[in-house]
Amino acid sequence: MTNAVIENILTRRSVRAFQEKPIDRETIETLLQCAVHAPSAMNRQTWHFSAVLNREKIQKLAAAMGKALGSPAYNLYCPAALIIPSNETGLIKTWDNACALENIFLAAHSLGIASVWINQASDTCDDPGVRAVLTELGVPEGHAVYGMAALGYAAAEPKPVDKKYPVTIIE
Ligand SMILES: Cc1cc2nc3c(=O)[nH]c(=O)nc-3n(C[C@H](O)[C@H](O)[C@H](O)COP(=O)(O)O)c2cc1C
Repeated sequence: MTNAVIENILTRRSVRAFQEKPIDRETIETLLQCAVHAPSAMNRQTWHFSAVLNREKIQKLAAAMGKALGSPAYNLYCPAALIIPSNETGLIKTWDNACALENIFLAAHSLGIASVWINQASDTCDDPGVRAVLTELGVPEGHAVYGMAALGYAAAEPKPVDKKYPVTIIE
């Protein structure tokens, strides 16, 4: 059984190399609309989304993160855009943000835009140097970053990924 939505889910892949081509603001706003329509526990919507379309500002964050990680060459895969969901701290908030991120990835894929989850900010967002850049990018004080979406037009077709099927169906 299939349809366009299912086909979109089945064909999304993480991409880690992007073209120079920018993503226009209208497209990013569509992705943000999809993000805020994700489910959140008790519909609290305590999250915030910073969308950065400026490559220099993305690389400023990458440099701060690289310093915190001890990896000076760290570059977040040089994406055309970066969406930084953040939220109050707490396990359930991480789940809210994961739902929002998946909406972003699937909506992006449906529009021909490639993406990947970036996890390194979850460990570095409270490093003073990283926090200073996150604040410049609009991330609210007191918010943690659990994952970010690196976005851009794919530089190459992603390789197929082996997907297991650990499923039990009881009839
Ligand atoms: C919680 C989580 C954290 C991830 N962190 C990273 C990351 O930091 N860098 C990265 O390149 N990919 C990251 N990924 C992407 C996974 O590596 C990727 O989803 C997985 O290899 C399966 O490939 P697919 O997305 O193409 O299906 C992360 C994915 C998830 C769900």
